[in-house]
Amino acid sequence: MKIIQVTDVHLGRQGERRYGADLHQRLASCIAHINVHHADAALCVFTGDLTETGAPESYAALRAALGALAVPYRLLPGNHDRRSNLIAAFPDNPVDDNGFVQSAHETDDEVLLFLDCLTEGRIEGELCEGRLAWLDARLAEAAGKPAYVFMHHPPVELGLPQLDPLALEQPRRLLDPLKRHGNVRHIFFGHVHRDIAGTVAGIPFSAQRGLHGRFELALDRPSEIVEQAPPSYAIILIDSANERVVVHGCDFLEQWPVYCAETGERLAPDAVRAIA
Ligand SMILES: [Fe+2]
Repeated sequence: MKIIQVTDVHLGRQGERRYGADLHQRLASCIAHINVHHADAALCVFTGDLTETGAPESYAALRAALGALAVPYRLLPGNHDRRSNLIAAFPDNPVDDNGFVQSAHETDDEVLLFLDCLTEGRIEGELCEGRLAWLDARLAEAAGKPAYVFMHHPPVELGLPQLDPLALEQPRRLLDPLKRHGNVRHIFFGHVHRDIAGTVAGIPFSAQRGLHGRFELALDRPSEIVEQAPPSYAIILIDSANERVVVHGCDFLEQWPVYCAETGERLAPDAVRAIA
């Protein structure tokens, strides 16, 4: 199963530039790249911060842009989003019985679980009793079938003094049930605007830096520095029967000088396309 993860789109006003980038243009390029290279993906998951301010017009612009995406998609809110505006613009994007943007996608081999950890008006994430009860019920229904969790906030301290206080609050309230059910194979999140991988409570996780700027790598101090690094999305390959998960980062706008591996000869970009 191939899944695409796109995170932290931060769509604002048309024509606006954030940290030197036009995020509308960037989203359009990302969608075009996915359509050319990964139209066979089962699903494209947007792990939150879909918009910069949660304004209705930003969701309308997002909906218009996603009209071009050849892959079915699922949207999760991040701290920059406004739940009611998201739901109003995307009435087909599933919600749970309590109105949270949570849902499950089940196949013969696995279940994908999409969590809503937005607390309106706050940067930190939370999972209240209702959302955790929903998750517990889905994991119980899965009855041991491999499960994969997608969310916005990290449920793990990453060693980043600027970002760690802004993560999911009380992460053990999530991690303890995940561990107890024993079938969660990976947690995918965004929010931190960096590419990070590791394990927590014995469960592998990965974060994707996404379409916005990248936060500076600062392990020894808080930092407000944003780097205009190339945007990226993730290609996730899941083979549940063989207990295999692979996450590839795709820097879809990056262009480097290219060479033939065999002869060392520098190639023109057109020649690369011909070889591909
Ligand atoms: Fe973000």
